[in-house]
Amino acid sequence: MPQLISPHGSDDLKPLYVEDAEARGRLAEDAARLPALTISSAAAGNAVMLGGGYFTPLGGFMNKADAVSVAGTMRMHNGLFWPVPVLNMVEDRGVAAAGERIALRDPNVAGGPIIAVMDVEAIEELDDAEWTAIVEGIFGTADQNHPGVAEFAALGRIILSGPIEVLNFSYFRSDFPGTFRTAVEIRREIAERGWRRVVAFQTRNPMHRAHEELCRLAMERLDADGLVIHMLLGKLKPGDIPAHVREAAIRKMVELYFPANSVIVSGYGFDMLYAGPREALLHAVFRQNMGASHLIVGRDHAGVGDYYGAFDAQTVFDEIAADALDIEIFRADHTAYSKKLHKVVMMREASGHAQEDFVLLSGTRVREMLANGEAPPEEFSRPEVAQILMDHYRSP
Ligand code: ADX
Repeated sequence: MPQLISPHGSDDLKPLYVEDAEARGRLAEDAARLPALTISSAAAGNAVMLGGGYFTPLGGFMNKADAVSVAGTMRMHNGLFWPVPVLNMVEDRGVAAAGERIALRDPNVAGGPIIAVMDVEAIEELDDAEWTAIVEGIFGTADQNHPGVAEFAALGRIILSGPIEVLNFSYFRSDFPGTFRTAVEIRREIAERGWRRVVAFQTRNPMHRAHEELCRLAMERLDADGLVIHMLLGKLKPGDIPAHVREAAIRKMVELYFPANSVIVSGYGFDMLYAGPREALLHAVFRQNMGASHLIVGRDHAGVGDYYGAFDAQTVFDEIAADALDIEIFRADHTAYSKKLHKVVMMREASGHAQEDFVLLSGTRVREMLANGEAPPEEFSRPEVAQILMDHYRSP
């Protein structure tokens, strides 16, 4: 039987979570005596991803040289392909000193428990030009109206770099026990199921019919063994639908509309960057690490507003070196329900259609309908999914 796809830049996954319970207990005791620093939500998300093996083969937070190089050329100094700097940025170095161990406190859990222990190798400040180059590399813009840029701008300009050991997965294990999974766990489950051609679906939304059909089409056309729906469980911008509601909607859709045992519903603990093409590349890296052979990239993947072209997150894969990644992408055109064909189609493939032959609703329009207690049309959302969303919008 062919082997599962290799992790990125490594023969084995490199999860930085301390798996052995005794070793973890000892590390937690030591950590309690170390000087401690509360990190940003973004850095805590990086720690969760590093902990779970998703960011294999990285051993910790990047230094300034790697951050500048990754933002500019998508390569680390050692030549490794990497699309988005993995940073621990702070406004104030606080207790951190180069050459010292510190404990990192989690800002997303009450009481700020220690999420990881870090060996601080360097403390470096970004000047204006470096900061702008990094932001423009990641987001393609330095416009502070971009929600990802605004989040990044709030992090501070001091980069703390060095290896980490991870003690827990923040709030994700306890809040999403059935859904949060590490790359180690998903890779293991894929192997146990005997899947080899595995399609990953990234989402930050409840899945409407366009999403559902996109997954079905990808599975059929790729002759895949299975689908991993991999939902973002971290923070979104205001107005986006909370993870628990998305989780319930997605599980209901899979239960009712997909064959048994064809789908793994899972999630990862990371805040949305809204970095469009660069985020799509990062998505591909960590889906390769979890064992997926393909990632669906559709219209405006990881986009926001009109900062990116609708298919920039696909064409960026043409711009990277052929050997940068092993995972392949499934390029999807805009999908929508055709009133003529009575099914969801890729719009480009539906000949003889005018715009009004499709059911197209903007996210804003759907939210308005739900807020007014109106169900979106059946061609847009499965009724059982619409019900879960309406219940959410009606709850006080
Ligand atoms: S994302 O920020 O996580 O990309 P979303 O959950 O809406 O947002 O999309 C998940 C995936 O489905 C992305 O690959 C996106 O490009 C794709 N997608 C969503 N809606 C459509 C659509 N109508 N047509 C084509 N692709 C779509």
